[in-house]
Amino acid sequence: MISNKILNGLNGSPTIPGDKSISHRSIIIPSISNGICEVDNCLESDDVTHTINAFTAMGVKIEKQKNKITIYGKGLNSLQKPDNNIYLGNSGTGARLLTGLLSSQEFETTLIGDKSLSSRPMNRIVNPLKKMNAEIETKKGRMPLLIKGKKLSSASIEIDIPSAQIKSGILLAALNTKGTTNVTENNITRDHTEIMLQAFGADILVESNDNKKLIKINGGKELKSQNINVPSDLSSSSFFIVAALINEKSHIIVENVNINPTRNGILIALKKMGARISLLNKRILNNEEVCDIEVFSSELKGCDLDSSLAKLMIDEYPILSIAASFANSPSVFRGLSELRVKESDRLELINLNLKRCGVNCKIINDDLYIYPNSDYKINNNLIRTDFDHRIAMAFSVMGSKIGKIKIDDSNSIKTSFPKFIDEFNQVGGLIS
Ligand code: S3P
Repeated sequence: MISNKILNGLNGSPTIPGDKSISHRSIIIPSISNGICEVDNCLESDDVTHTINAFTAMGVKIEKQKNKITIYGKGLNSLQKPDNNIYLGNSGTGARLLTGLLSSQEFETTLIGDKSLSSRPMNRIVNPLKKMNAEIETKKGRMPLLIKGKKLSSASIEIDIPSAQIKSGILLAALNTKGTTNVTENNITRDHTEIMLQAFGADILVESNDNKKLIKINGGKELKSQNINVPSDLSSSSFFIVAALINEKSHIIVENVNINPTRNGILIALKKMGARISLLNKRILNNEEVCDIEVFSSELKGCDLDSSLAKLMIDEYPILSIAASFANSPSVFRGLSELRVKESDRLELINLNLKRCGVNCKIINDDLYIYPNSDYKINNNLIRTDFDHRIAMAFSVMGSKIGKIKIDDSNSIKTSFPKFIDEFNQVGGLIS
């Protein structure tokens, strides 16, 4: 795919698909609840399709209509042993959440994934589950995972890695485990699982202060299904927001976007950089905060972002790095070690690809430094993605500003935003 320079800015209102994190949970939680759940605006992408296929393979009836999915849940212990291994494609969320859930189901399952997922660390979820007596075999801490599901014991678990996937995997295991499981999160991460479990009637208590959270969950209580309306994904919206900021003559409005405060770091960072962004019509949808985001082209300044912001915007550093490349002063983003274990080693790929676009940047101790320039000379116009959707989309936004760059493989975009290219071109982009 080739991303070309645009001249007249981005204008209009792009359609952003449903939030990926909430969509996964909208399949998983209703599948183990009682009753019928209608999910509106669920993300239709490869990652979520693999999660749907997993539950269908475990006997859950799931019907797909246009823009709506209906899930017929039959309770905490209604899943059946699948006939085959469960393939989760590229999805870390699918892998970590299902590992937790299936470790407390009384049958054996094997989880497998694509090349990228098979290289990602799984002990971060397996080790805490072992404190609940889970039996899981890994291949040197990686997939395939053989989960020998059984009744687990409740435990007190402290999570030091900032990861909503780990927390959610443990909460899903605890749901079907007698007694009280206490989860202490030493870094507050996205809380979509807690929000949905509360709405579905789980016996769950959440206490938090600014940087620590305690979740108590009493297992064994059946959940009752609720209908879900999935808001648009802030991570997917960010590509459009930054493209509008850095390209002159732009004015866009992205509607119905999830701005959950455990996830809104990108908006905080961009505001700090002087972005002209307004959050309009703030409202609550299924206990999640949403709004419409209006963006105008802006003169950006560089910023120094503390590592504490990383957990609030871990998926947005690729696109934030593009914004920083067009600021009028340098930026440093600190504490990005978690970026190394995403769909790719994102920190290295951001650094490598920015350099190919002529940007002066460097990594020191997992901190990324970007020194913007007003006239980029492309060194090598091929962007290496290692099948990472967010690298592919971020560098197409780079191409909208500096001109022809080739993205080595655009197929990864299907994992989170299959219509990205059409939507980008619809509001003035030039991707061919
Ligand atoms: C996600 C959590 C984050 C994020 C991922 C989605 C989730 O991962 O990067 O895209 O839905 O829980 P970690 O929790 O591992 O940081």
